[in-house]
Amino acid sequence: PLRLGVMASGSGSNFEAIVAAIAAQRLHAQVRVMICNNPKARVFERADRWHIPAVLHNHRQVPSREALDTQIVQTLHDHQVECVIMAGWMRIVTPVLIHAFPNAILNIHPSLLPSFKGIHAVEQALAAGVKIAGCTVHRVVPAVDSGEILAQAAVPVMPEDTPETLQARIHLQEHRIYPQAIASIIPEFRPTPSA
Ligand code: GAR
Repeated sequence: PLRLGVMASGSGSNFEAIVAAIAAQRLHAQVRVMICNNPKARVFERADRWHIPAVLHNHRQVPSREALDTQIVQTLHDHQVECVIMAGWMRIVTPVLIHAFPNAILNIHPSLLPSFKGIHAVEQALAAGVKIAGCTVHRVVPAVDSGEILAQAAVPVMPEDTPETLQARIHLQEHRIYPQAIASIIPEFRPTPSA
């Protein structure tokens, strides 16, 4: 199984969708460690329930983004992680992390990239008045929300939508496409059998 490290900052519903896909044998992987930057995040309860090791790297207790990423890389290496999954990770990552896992870091973003990069993507979509919103799984490169797109799903925007109702509709699609996108890159980590 592909050895994953999941980075999350908040609720962790995408973390849980990935773990559930693994449990249901829809994804041939294992989550070796969950890393979180926020001591109060609900994702810790989810990790506990699934018996997945959880590590706090509190960004408030390190002096720079690079220092945070250095600690994170150490934890990922300690747990022999091959592929890094950013699932609601709300910190900008630096080349310290990106170069430690070349081509092997994925992120999910709650918009149809390249529209609405950065924070508050769902609010941005509502403010723009788009009629179709969605989510994107992409590879992580130094420019924020800009790497190769691996999967997308679209959802309708309803006239009465609030950020919460639209976010909920997007979440359902995220939970479906993220395990699929991870499964799609597994061959990159396994040598093809020679003839
Ligand atoms: C998800 O909607 C994800 O796309 C978004 O945060 C939410 C996390 O939900 N990510 C970003 O906005 C990244 N900038 P979760 O904690 O329930 O998985």
